[in-house]
Amino acid sequence: MTLPVVLPAEPLLSIEDYLRTGGGVGLRVAREYGPDATIDEVTAAGLTGRGGGGFSTGAKWRSIRDAGGGRRYVVANGAEGEPATFKDRMLMRRDPFRIVEGAAIAALAIGADDVYLATKASFTVEAANLRHATEELGRLGFLDGLDVTVVGGPDEYLFGEEKALLEVIEGREPLPRQLPPWQHGLFATVAIGWESGTPRAGEEPTSNPTLVNNVETLAAATHILERGAEWFRSMGTVDSPGTVLVTVVGDVVRPGVHEVEMGTPFSDVLARCGGPLPGRAFKAAFSGVSNAVLLAADFDVALTQRDLVARDSGLGAAGFVVYDDRRSMLAVAREFSRFLSVESCGQCPPCKRGSLSITEVLVDIDSGRGSDADLGRLNSLLRSVTDANRCYLGTEEQIVVSSILRAFPEDIAAGIEGVGPASSRIMIPLIHDLLDDGTVVYDERHQYKRPDWTYDS
Ligand SMILES: Cc1cc2nc3c(=O)[nH]c(=O)nc-3n(C[C@H](O)[C@H](O)[C@H](O)COP(=O)(O)O)c2cc1C
Ligand code: SF4
Repeated sequence: MTLPVVLPAEPLLSIEDYLRTGGGVGLRVAREYGPDATIDEVTAAGLTGRGGGGFSTGAKWRSIRDAGGGRRYVVANGAEGEPATFKDRMLMRRDPFRIVEGAAIAALAIGADDVYLATKASFTVEAANLRHATEELGRLGFLDGLDVTVVGGPDEYLFGEEKALLEVIEGREPLPRQLPPWQHGLFATVAIGWESGTPRAGEEPTSNPTLVNNVETLAAATHILERGAEWFRSMGTVDSPGTVLVTVVGDVVRPGVHEVEMGTPFSDVLARCGGPLPGRAFKAAFSGVSNAVLLAADFDVALTQRDLVARDSGLGAAGFVVYDDRRSMLAVAREFSRFLSVESCGQCPPCKRGSLSITEVLVDIDSGRGSDADLGRLNSLLRSVTDANRCYLGTEEQIVVSSILRAFPEDIAAGIEGVGPASSRIMIPLIHDLLDDGTVVYDERHQYKRPDWTYDS
């Protein structure tokens, strides 16, 4: 199969270019099929979500279509706040029409009249592309019967978490609500504690099951409707068909975004990035801040969720930061923990207070003020940081930091003894921009962000 499939080599930013490359066909096919057969096709293709969870897209569409009462909504998640990922922005820059078309296909499948395309307000180019694609597709009648709105959200990491995303669309802060979108969707009026809206007089309260899909997932769905499930299954593995957009940053010669078939060895992608820097050897990698460390000895792993889980890690949004043998994993743990503790919203005290305390202990150890007793304290904090959590962020803290403590005890011991390699400066790999020549511009501002989401000047 000739790649690329989902990420075109050149941007397709005019409706003419879009139609010339098969644009509009997927939606036409979906209209011919109708909702049931459209969901069947996506299910048969074996597409799984590319936003991090890896859930079956067909199963998700069907369960939302069949869920409880009220309206249905589609939300395209283009928030892309996960450190070390840039693929969604690359896709919104190169093929925004395919995302809008995929959202329209999903709306047809689940019976929604309203679509929200959510991205960060600071992603000005990407938001403009989505608006332009919506206007053009609307002008040509592709979106008849659909109300499509582009929403610009805040820079907070939680904006991309689906329960927080719905809050932002409704005009509030990105604080995850209690129940998931399929149980408490957009503008729901069903009574759930203090979160319920108010039904209009004479109206039944509704839960409005809402579909949230990552923008890459929706673009892939468009291709599937255009070319068929069999075509999609001709790529990737039996369990994980299709392609995946992989971001690689950190200690490689040429960072970048590469589209590869699912199941491609991670080492092949690293080779396309030019391998390690001259004279250096890889030490470890992380897929965002959501999964356990992947050791260099495991870099031959096939890129599927199942294969990565078998190596005690996970695929996440397939955004990897790679570190070489100069790096202290203690410093990585400190920075990842600091990021998560700052971004935690504080609705669940064990998550906010626990992750802040974990960061403090790691800072102490890293600056030579630690002792063996700190290890016990760390383990106890890591056990409780997930208690009563509304969202997965506290679990990310537990998974990432625990995995580093387990895999690199010598880096932690060196910190406690004050004899280790002076921990190299590590910055959270939040990507501000990734240029075609492989230059990565990191978001330096995050180091000045305080736990209450204000900034040191
Ligand atoms: C803290 C946190 C941040 C997240 N950020 C994003 C994001 O920026 N983009 C995204 O697509 N999914 C993000 N997710 C996952 C979403 O909650 C959701 O699972 C995903 O959008 C579903 O789409 P998919 O089924 O197509 O993967 C995040 C999850 C968590 C816990
Ligand atoms: S788990 Fe953490 S980030 Fe998620 S809602 Fe609770 S406090 Fe906020």
